Amino acid sequence: MISSLMEDAVGFAPSPRMNIQIRKAAMRDIGPLLTLINGHASKGIMLPRTEFEMSENMRDFSVAYAGDDLVGCGALHFYSPIVGEIRSLAVADSVKTQGIGRLVVDALIREARDFALAAVFAFTYVPGFFGKVGFAEVERGELPLKAWKDCLRCPKFQCCDEIAVLRILNPARYEKPRAEHSANTPFHIEGDTIVLLPTIKPL
Ligand SMILES: CC(C)(COP(=O)(O)OP(=O)(O)OC[C@H]1O[C@@H](n2cnc3c(N)ncnc32)[C@H](O)[C@@H]1OP(=O)(O)O)[C@@H](O)C(=O)NCCC(=O)NCCS
Repeated sequence: MISSLMEDAVGFAPSPRMNIQIRKAAMRDIGPLLTLINGHASKGIMLPRTEFEMSENMRDFSVAYAGDDLVGCGALHFYSPIVGEIRSLAVADSVKTQGIGRLVVDALIREARDFALAAVFAFTYVPGFFGKVGFAEVERGELPLKAWKDCLRCPKFQCCDEIAVLRILNPARYEKPRAEHSANTPFHIEGDTIVLLPTIKPL
């Protein structure tokens, strides 16, 4: 289990067409990661990240390199003791559809299994890709509340059109979140805090 915490421990995974190395990210990757992620963010398909946020969350990230070039990345963010979120998944435009996205997701799933997560979810505009890597579309209400800090910064917060996808890793341990803690929970916003409103159970 501990091995996945170490740089270079996620594994070396050659793709048929390119020599791709997948490893845990290190601080020296922050510059190339910002270029890759914010390049996609400028097209409105990902959330932009700052250097501060990247530094704070570097341990979540795995990176894919072709030689000296960062060609892909993704992050596994723990959300509860049994559920994690795959986020900041990106592949450089020049090398898309060559299997790098799948390699990154595979590495994140191995890491999730190392930490005994029962399920991994994502919010995405590319459910077709996630379908290919073992995820199924689910109702948003089936997932726990997403990391609200991210949603609060998103221009689409009140009209989110991302699709929720879920991959259950251990059905015996996975439990759907209780209704009062689901994404359907009513809320209001106070400054930068989301206040959940109590749900009234029908009699
Ligand atoms: C989504 C993304 C990560 C996919 O990476 P990739 O390296 O191009 O994907 P892969 O080559 O590993 O594809 C794996 C499979 O998914 C399929 N696939 C890839 N992109 C797809 C898409 N947009 N729609 C449907 N299927 C897709 C591939 O054809 C392949 O199928 P196969 O196994 O039958 O051959 C990449 O396109 C990307 O960076 N997009 C912009 C950022 C983004 O949307 N990130 C997701 C945030 S949640």
